[in-house]
Amino acid sequence: MDLKLQIDLERLPHHVAIIMDGNGRWAKKHGKPRIFGHRNGVKTVREITETAAELGISYLTLYAFSTENWSRPKREVSAIMQLLVDTLYKEINTLNKNDIRLKAIGELHSLPASTHKALKEGIANTAANQRMTLVLALNYSGRWDIVQASQKLAQQVSEGLLPLEALDEHAIQGALSTADMPEPELLIRTSGEHRLSNFLLWECAYTEFHFSPVFWPDFGKEHFYQALIDFQNRERRFGKISEQIIH
Ligand code: IPE
Ligand code: IPE
Ligand code: MG
Repeated sequence: MDLKLQIDLERLPHHVAIIMDGNGRWAKKHGKPRIFGHRNGVKTVREITETAAELGISYLTLYAFSTENWSRPKREVSAIMQLLVDTLYKEINTLNKNDIRLKAIGELHSLPASTHKALKEGIANTAANQRMTLVLALNYSGRWDIVQASQKLAQQVSEGLLPLEALDEHAIQGALSTADMPEPELLIRTSGEHRLSNFLLWECAYTEFHFSPVFWPDFGKEHFYQALIDFQNRERRFGKISEQIIH
């Protein structure tokens, strides 16, 4: 049966987050340099973004470059940064055509100037779009976000703007770079790795995880549908017992 028809459109996650992994191994499998894998990974980004928007998902967050990824060989890092610039300029029209708004989370100021500029332009040029928000996590790490949120809040407390008793979960959530977004109900990681690699640590407290063995450049629509079906077959209990959940 057509996988798409098995998806209950009334029960879609509002926010799907993806750790796009396996570009390097995909390239190696094809006897090519790692950047060839990243380039092919961009095709998957396009396909999955369009699929998510068509289905009616409101937020799609893609882990594109972690704080730890700076430790990779210099050549690979600059090739990824250049690929980001090229892709951002190339895809703006498609984002606008599909009514998709671009957003970024991470320590964006420390990105190379050209990448930061392309990103800022992409965000500004798509700001009015409403169908879906595509969030790129760039120079992002979950711990970085918690640290920067803590610093912001500590500053407010020290200036007497925030009473210490008001520093609760809600205040921390509001100081994170994901403050204006719902928490992801579903997180997908490709390439058979089963770890979070410093992604959305705070936000994933109750997220459902779907692990796919497929390398990111090979991850297609059908794999995405499969992840959504898997998600819809889970029972999200949030600490309660099964009998307390309204089905
Ligand atoms: C994910 O693919 C893309 C980035 C981290 C930028 P990888 O480059 O991590 O691919 P593998 O894990 O080495 O195969
Ligand atoms: C996580 O993938 C980061 C991104 C997908 C951008 P990595 O390939 O960097 O993660 P590790 O090093 O295998 O944990
Ligand atoms: Mg990897």
